[in-house]
Parts: sequence; C-alpha cells; structure tokens
Amino acid sequence: MESTASLAVVLLCVFVGGSASASQPNIILIVADDLGWNDVGFHNPSMITPNIDALADSGVIFNHSYVQPVCSPSRTAFMTGIYPFKAGTQHYVIEGSQPVCVPLNFTFLPQYLKHLGYSTHAIGKWHLGFCNWNCTPTYRGFDSYFGYYQGSEDYYTHKTGGYLDYRDNTDVVRNATGEYSAFRFAKEAVDIINNHDKSKPFFIYLPFQSVHAPIEVPKQYEDMYPNVVNIGRRKFCGMVTALDDAIGSVTRALQEQKVFDNTLIFFTADNGGELVAYGNNWPLRGGKHTVWEGGTRVTSFAHGVGIRRTGYTYDGFFHAVDYVPTILAAAGGKPDASIDGVSQWESIRMGLPSQRTEFIYNLDDFFYPVTGRAAIRVGDMKLVDGYPGLYDNWYLPMNETQDTPLEDFIYNAEHELVWLFNLTADPLEKQNLANQMPDVVKTLRARMLEYKKQMVPANFPPEDPKGNPSHFGGVWTPGWC
Ligand SMILES: *[C@@H]1O[C@H](CO)[C@@H](O)[C@H](O)[C@H]1NC(C)=O
Ligand SMILES: *[C@@H]1O[C@H](CO)[C@@H](O)[C@H](O)[C@H]1NC(C)=O
Ligand SMILES: *[C@@H]1O[C@H](CO)[C@@H](O)[C@H](O)[C@H]1NC(C)=O
Ligand SMILES: *[C@@H]1O[C@H](CO)[C@@H](O)[C@H](O)[C@H]1NC(C)=O
Ligand SMILES: *[C@@H]1O[C@H](CO)[C@@H](O)[C@H](O)[C@H]1NC(C)=O
Repeated sequence: MESTASLAVVLLCVFVGGSASASQPNIILIVADDLGWNDVGFHNPSMITPNIDALADSGVIFNHSYVQPVCSPSRTAFMTGIYPFKAGTQHYVIEGSQPVCVPLNFTFLPQYLKHLGYSTHAIGKWHLGFCNWNCTPTYRGFDSYFGYYQGSEDYYTHKTGGYLDYRDNTDVVRNATGEYSAFRFAKEAVDIINNHDKSKPFFIYLPFQSVHAPIEVPKQYEDMYPNVVNIGRRKFCGMVTALDDAIGSVTRALQEQKVFDNTLIFFTADNGGELVAYGNNWPLRGGKHTVWEGGTRVTSFAHGVGIRRTGYTYDGFFHAVDYVPTILAAAGGKPDASIDGVSQWESIRMGLPSQRTEFIYNLDDFFYPVTGRAAIRVGDMKLVDGYPGLYDNWYLPMNETQDTPLEDFIYNAEHELVWLFNLTADPLEKQNLANQMPDVVKTLRARMLEYKKQMVPANFPPEDPKGNPSHFGGVWTPGWC
C-alpha cells in the first residue's frame, strides 16, 4: 500500500513538473535552542549579536511568533506543520530511552521539498525520536545529516548520560572531541553551501545546540561580557555570541558562493529561554516549560529573496506549524490540505495582515504537571485553562546579580487555574480577566474543546532498558523499538 502511494506521488511530481526551477530559493531554517526573548541584540542592546541583528534588521522581524513550551513538540510542528497534540508529542521532550518518535505516517518538510526538486540537509539537534532507524533524519527526507539525536549534551565531548551521541549521516562520529558544536555545525553548513549542485536549490535545516544547557563556551566569548557580574549569565551571553559568529560564517559562505541573494533564511527559537540556565525572556511572563508568553512567544525573523517589504516588524500571528506551508509556498509547492499550518508567505513578503487569527499553545491531558497543559489564543484574548507550567513570574536577566535563589522560580499560583488575558491591552499577562468576563472564558473553552476532539493521548512511556547505549558499544543508537 505504502509503496504504491509514494510511487503515485513521484509520478505526479514528474508530470506536474516537480523538478527544480530557476526561481526556487535556497532555504535555511535556523533554530536556536532555548534562546530567550531578551537574549538577542535586536531585543536587548546589551547582547552582542551583530550577524543575527543584520539579518533581522534587513528582513522581517516577527513580533508574534509562537512555538510550544519545550523542544520536541516545537520541532514536531516545524517538521510536520501539525500540532503536536495530534502526534502524541505534546507532553514533554522525548527522553533518551523512551521508545517514541513522531509517528512515521507524518510527512516531514524535507519530504515535501524533495518532491519540489530540493536537496535537503539537517545539521544539529534532532530530538524527534531515534529508537528506530526509520525515525531518524536520513529516513525522514533528509539527504544528509550531521548532529545528535537527543535534546542536549556536552558541547565538546558530544556525550549525554556518559555516552556518545554524534552522527555523520548514520555513522558514529568519534573524532570530534574538543570541537565546540556551534562551529562544527556552521562548518557542515558551509561545506554544503560550497559544494552544492547549482542546478538544484538546497534546503538546510540548522537546529543549533546553542544555547541550551550545559553552559559552556570558549573563554574569548565569555570575556566579551566583562560587565555581566553573574558568571553563569556571562557564559550564557558568550554562548549567544558564539552562535552569532557561527551564523556569520554561514552568511559569509552564501555571499562567497554568490547565492546569498537567492537564499531565504528563517530564524526561530524552539521555546522561551530556560530561566534556571540563565536564559531570559524579560519583560514577558514565565519561560521555557510554560504556556505563558515568555515560554511560547519567541525571537524570530525571516530574511532574503522574495521578501518585498523589508526592515519592518510583522505584528500578525505566526505559529510553529506555519513554517511548513510558508516554506513550501516560497518553494513553489503546497503541503497536504489536512495540516494545521497556514501559509504566511504572501503576508510576510508584502507586509499584509496575518492569515492566522487563532492558535493552540498546547493541549495535554497527561496527569503529571511538567509543562503547560492547555491554552488557546483567539484574536485579542488568551485563555489558560489548567496548570500553566513551572515558572509564573517576570524575571530580569541575572546579569548584575549572583544567581537568583531557585525557590524564586517555583510555580506559586496553584490557587488559580483559569486565566483570561486581553493580550492586545496586556501583553505581559498581568491582569486576569477570568472572573470579569465569564462569557469569553466559556467561548474560548468551547473553541478549545473543538480542537480537543482531534487530540491523541500523549505518548510518554517509561524509558526502555533496551535503548541503553551499553548494548551498542557506548553510543546512543537506533534499532530497539
Ligand atoms: C497517522 O495514522 C493514524 C492512525 O492510523 C491516524 O489517526 C492519523 O490521522 C495519521 N496521521 C497522518 C498525519 O497521516
Ligand atoms: C574524522 O573521521 C572522519 C571519518 O573517518 C574523517 O573524514 C575526518 O577527516 C576525521 N577528522 C579528524 C579531525 O580527524
Ligand atoms: C542587565 O539587563 C538589564 C535589562 O535587560 C539591562 O538594562 C542592563 O543594561 C544589563 N546590564 C548588563 C551589564 O548587561
Ligand atoms: C509588538 O507587540 C507589542 C505587544 O506585545 C506591541 O506593543 C508593539 O507595538 C508591537 N510592535 C510592533 C512594531 O508592531
Ligand atoms: C482588548 O483590548 C483592546 C485594547 O485595549 C481593545 O481595543 C479590545 O476591544 C479588547 N478586546 C476585547 C475582546 O475585550
């Protein structure tokens, strides 16, 4: 059945002219891991990110770009254009030995792009499951892959939980110890740009490790922030600048190869800054793990070919599920009609109103409260219905102080479980209107229930000892589910 279906797709593409055309842009989707709203120069002048700022300032800055509260769900949305609550990945991140991946019948962005004639490459963090080879990048539409399968690891040893997680396509990379991942990932991207077959456009998915914990950076970057008193925050700021340098080498390679003018770049964080690891989302409320704005409204922009109106801020809603249809529209294609994303390509490039008027922040019925359970945005209004996630305050960067005591980060609003905000009037979520506007609560809850009809249970099983790297020569390895 399946092979007949994919043959039909191939034939269709041949007949409809699915091969590359000269006007198709090269596309790069850069994801920064755990980068906060207040962690980039174009939001915070004390951050040193000249390369990122130059792209953002001469592109389109997204003012209301939303993602999920944590990594695996956001990446599910980036790759499929479908809400994670339909993929079972809505609850939390995929842990190393959990026999879980994004369901294999979901089409990934590079699979669509290959049918449009693109060469496709993924470099960096995967975190969409790897227990079966079919879950891994080169089996899900990428021609090449360099990176690691899990959510985090040491930036130099490329180990997590004591075991190596570093791959070149499907091969284990054992000889990159000591090489900081941001620079290696940039080098891989530069190699692809330098060696690409000019008769085809390329797509590079570039989800950097930076700036997720552990807090590690070459000293010269840390030294660029002598006024930041807190050592952790100083190193974190250095990590952001190292990421910026890595992005600078990619844009330089595009210029040297004379393809910069035919390349479209999207940049986004995967969730808000991780507060306890020195990320910062000031002045937004909360951070990573929460459905507050600080966890879900992220630093994001687009730059490059096809964008007619530049140097402005796109104020409309953009959601993580919109990357698939937006990128496909720019590439001259279309996704399956059943996905949740809407193409924002015309709106972004011309500066028109957004095609999106509402979205789901998350829907999760799983009992154990780790991340935000349920929230929806419709027009001006946002309803948070149930546990919002770990941190519910407003936090300044720890730049001029010692570490904030951990207890300050604890969720302390258990007494309230329903919040309603008018985010147009109150973008910082200071005034809960739930008691004042019960009818609006009712309407938004009813809308949320409509979405809930399509929810599948969170797939969050216990870790399986079969996945332990001790069975695979000390390397995190697929093939046990
Ligand atoms: C994948 O398969 C499941 C189970 O058959 C089905 O419910 C779901 O709609 C499918 N999803 C996609 C995106 O094809
Ligand atoms: C690491 O190993 C690969 C594959 O054998 C090889 O191509 C590469 O040159 C090696 N790199 C270093 C720094 O030794
Ligand atoms: C610390 O952060 C605050 C708020 O973002 C900013 O006003 C201040 O300049 C920063 N100080 C340093 C030393 O970066
Ligand atoms: C960005 O959004 C905020 C609300 O959070 C709003 O106050 C501000 O005017 C917007 N900026 C632009 C340039 O649209
Ligand atoms: C939300 O606030 C804005 C700005 O004050 C106002 O124009 C709008 O009517 C409010 N929306 C609702 C639904 O109350």
